[in-house]
Amino acid sequence: MQSIPKHIAMIMDGNGRWAKKRLLPRAVGHVKGASNVRSIVQACTHYGVEYLTLFAFSTENWRRPEDEVSTLMDLFIQYLDKEVSEMREAGIRFRIIGDRSAFAPSLQERIERAERETSHNTKLHLTIAANYGGQWDILRAAQLWMQANPNSSIGELEPAGLKNYLSTHELPDPDLLIRTGGESRLSNFLLWQMAYTELYFTETYWPEFDKPELELALDWFSKRVRRFGQTDEQVLGEN
Ligand code: FPP
Repeated sequence: MQSIPKHIAMIMDGNGRWAKKRLLPRAVGHVKGASNVRSIVQACTHYGVEYLTLFAFSTENWRRPEDEVSTLMDLFIQYLDKEVSEMREAGIRFRIIGDRSAFAPSLQERIERAERETSHNTKLHLTIAANYGGQWDILRAAQLWMQANPNSSIGELEPAGLKNYLSTHELPDPDLLIRTGGESRLSNFLLWQMAYTELYFTETYWPEFDKPELELALDWFSKRVRRFGQTDEQVLGEN
């Protein structure tokens, strides 16, 4: 397969509908969805993807019923407890982006430990967006820039300057976004970072998004001509 994306971002949608279709509680869909994260991380490693960023919990998801929010938090804790040592061994570098200050102290401690213990790894950069919103990220970057440049005016702020203060400043921009679950929207994910990302939407619910499904997305991506604002002729080297 040619042209593997260096960075894939994923919106893991459809857990609830997957469960509903089977007359199961939504929480079961999230459990199944969390276990699928592991398979997709492995599949991405297999294909040589270097960066994988997963949208696990948005700044808007706090509006969900309390028991669903607490299921998601528990799953997150379980994921960290179960996977950190394996990530360390498998060369996976783990990061969280988003406002972690809203999480329980026990979750924040686990996140810090996971980040610390995998900080020397480079094979796959696995980033989980948790309590993340693209608008939050952009606004915060502008505020951080102003704090760091107290003698400058906002008119001097340029895209490259802002980029340094985004929560993703250590990551390249995504080449491919995959959204499962049939919706065609970005839902406040990496808004700034996805300016030139190829967008792939599939009807498949996240718990059923497996390696063959990932292959379909990779095949689709390999056929895209990425122009970054230029013409086909410029990009393909024709006159
Ligand atoms: C969207 O499905 C999914 C979420 C809001 C949460 C995604 C979380 C996981 C996959 C599990 C936890 C993650 C980790 C990293 C352990 P939905 O509930 O909106 O589905 P619906 O649109 O069918 O209702």
